[in-house]
Amino acid sequence: MKQDELKRLVGEKSVEWIKDGMTVGLGTGSTVKFMVDALGRRVKTEGLHITGVTTSKATAKQAEELGITLKSVDAVDHIDLTIDGADEISNDFQGIKGGGAALLFEKIVATNSDQIMWIVDESKMVKNLGAFPLPVEVIPYGSQKVFERFDKKGYNPTFRKNNDGNSLLLTDSENYIIDLHLNDILDPEKLADDLIKEVGVVEHGLFLNMVNTVIVGRADGPEVLEA
Ligand code: A5P
Repeated sequence: MKQDELKRLVGEKSVEWIKDGMTVGLGTGSTVKFMVDALGRRVKTEGLHITGVTTSKATAKQAEELGITLKSVDAVDHIDLTIDGADEISNDFQGIKGGGAALLFEKIVATNSDQIMWIVDESKMVKNLGAFPLPVEVIPYGSQKVFERFDKKGYNPTFRKNNDGNSLLLTDSENYIIDLHLNDILDPEKLADDLIKEVGVVEHGLFLNMVNTVIVGRADGPEVLEA
């Protein structure tokens, strides 16, 4: 089965966890896109009353077009469940996110959620984190200095560029992303502490001790794992 098919499979499966009246965090990315489509269909056919809290402009646009009611994270009491994608999930359910540059809002929404579910195709399941470049969102002012400090530490940083290959990508909050090419992250907690202490860093893509449920898309069907 192709990767896209596996993403569709888990996206459609995940909306089974959404019940009438829930406030739902809506993640970002190509897997989540299938989930939001499936949720839109349920809202239309079953008349579900759902409030969505989105994690990017792209997801907000899609959800609005599908008629899903949206509120800001600051306007809701709590979020019952957030469904999001991930770039890597290790054996012990730690994650890297931010391949789609939405890590800041994704982490804010996740932090304010009662339950977190990640939906991934099987290629995202790894033994240890680190083969996927770790995104770090930084304030533009002074970002070259942050880059140099990362370089000195041996983190192999690169600034994220737009598809034109020249201009620097701006996040929804108008920050830059520095991707760290680490290959193997042996101590994610230590690295997370180190990164967040760096002045100029807004947030990083290590999502540690957060997820409750993972749905993995496999050729023989979706596998549900409880963390
Ligand atoms: C967005 O910033 C990311 O955290 C995505 O959730 C992650 O990159 C997974 O994306 P895909 O579903 O497109 O693989």
